[in-house]
Amino acid sequence: MMKLFNRTKSAPEEMTLEERLYYYRHRGHVVPSKHILKTPEQIEGIRRSAAVNTAVLDMVAAHIREGISTGEIDRLVYDFTVSHGAIPAPLNYEGFPKSVCTSINEEVCHGIPDDDIVLQEGDIVNVDVSTILNGYYSDASRMFMIGSVRPACKRLVEVAKECLERGIAAAQPWGFLGDIGEAIQSHAEANGFSVVRDFCGHGVGLKFHEKPEVEHVGRKGSGMLLVPGMIFTIEPMINMGSYKVYVDSDNEWTVLTEDGKPSAQWENTILITPNGVEILTY
Ligand code: MF3
Ligand code: CO
Repeated sequence: MMKLFNRTKSAPEEMTLEERLYYYRHRGHVVPSKHILKTPEQIEGIRRSAAVNTAVLDMVAAHIREGISTGEIDRLVYDFTVSHGAIPAPLNYEGFPKSVCTSINEEVCHGIPDDDIVLQEGDIVNVDVSTILNGYYSDASRMFMIGSVRPACKRLVEVAKECLERGIAAAQPWGFLGDIGEAIQSHAEANGFSVVRDFCGHGVGLKFHEKPEVEHVGRKGSGMLLVPGMIFTIEPMINMGSYKVYVDSDNEWTVLTEDGKPSAQWENTILITPNGVEILTY
């Protein structure tokens, strides 16, 4: 009788990085290729980019209110970013026309700012900011509630934030991407909400979107091994109703819920360290 080996058993602590990667690959796990592990110099560059990105979001937080247009938010983001020696990553990215994504209520992500879109009391809005500084990319988003928001929407925004926090807590060196998805999915569904399948988090740093794809649903112990030096986003999109979404055929960017119910999303860029995670976009 052949002995079944335990695929999730941890490798001995004394192994070198190379040995440890070999150990997991040999046991059938998906292991990141060495080139997606960032060097200390790259990590420092991405950390600096993330610091500007956080400052942009803080600036947005100070200005966002009922009556402001998303076009105005876009100009604030552009001016602030450029004045800090950085570039808004969305601008002209695959033809995206603005410097930031602003997604309101049933808009899931990739909403395009416009002077004619004015924030109203009761709106929940995601502002998704991505920055290039000295060639290094960072990416984060937050939700904002405009004036008083109905309790169900407030709960959606809170649970979406908790989903991100739980996803980050589940991200550990020598764990697996599926641990993150499982943590997010179980919390969203326990609260009666659903997790969007069609859009993922992603590696980030030297480009806007790199490997791996970070799914927000999954099973513990499945998917790519998490290795110190990996930098990626976690950005769960949580829907009040069905997880089904579609892309607006008019602008070919804005993603909306199929059932017209609201959606909320929070995003951070994280670094897997030898001891845990560092949230770069804090
Ligand atoms: N910040 C979005 C993401 O998380 C960026 C979408 S591409 C854009 O991947 F062009 F719409 F900005
Ligand atoms: Co992102």
